Amino acid sequence: MTTNFRIAPSILSANFAKLGEEVDNVLASGADIVHFDVMDNHYVPNLTIGPLVCEALKKHGVTAPIDVHLMVKPVDRIIPDFAKAGATYITFHPEASEHVDRTIALIRECGCKPGLVFNPATPLDVLEYTLDKLDMVLLMSVNPGFGGQKFIPYVLDKARAVRKMINDRGLNVSLEIDGGVGPANILEVAKAGVDTFVAGSAVFGARKDTDAHGYETIIGALRSELAKA
Ligand code: DX5
Ligand code: ZN
Repeated sequence: MTTNFRIAPSILSANFAKLGEEVDNVLASGADIVHFDVMDNHYVPNLTIGPLVCEALKKHGVTAPIDVHLMVKPVDRIIPDFAKAGATYITFHPEASEHVDRTIALIRECGCKPGLVFNPATPLDVLEYTLDKLDMVLLMSVNPGFGGQKFIPYVLDKARAVRKMINDRGLNVSLEIDGGVGPANILEVAKAGVDTFVAGSAVFGARKDTDAHGYETIIGALRSELAKA
């Protein structure tokens, strides 16, 4: 199993009135990736941020990878905009695209790293013909649309299944999980084969003014759990 674990705070739970500073602080506190949740009030019942905000973070000086999680339908129209705005990864839900293979190719052509996202109840069958074209598989451990929901445990079985598929095929695809992850469960998630951990409310809800950049304590707690894997 990989030991190259990455922590990806979801800015959905950040203070949007000072987003640049929040992202700087969380990265200076030890986070690896910026998880960027895009919601359209159509595919999911919530509305968040788009390419302008991604571009603003890049112009602000963010150099860490930006992991754009598209919870929008349709997806193709907006992909080049996010590529121009500086996205590193672009992940989408297969049921939100009429032509999954085409959308994966479009993300790649735009110079970004493609990933597929599976809701808790969505089967993994699409991976049979797509896994070797992906840089990331993202498993939702909550139903998408909101931060702060409870982790759904049966997703651990899916994580084990995807990890097996990746290893059996000898691929270098990241396995990411999103929803309800925190210090209490990150270790068992890692043991199921996940290497990249989205955490929104657990990270941004645990800011400490006594930490130099605000988030050292919580990111340290996540890392010390991961060190036991
Ligand atoms: C949910 C989003 C998540 C969310 C995770 O639709 O995709 O990224 O922000 O939030 P927490 O970690 O609070 O469950
Ligand atoms: Zn997300």
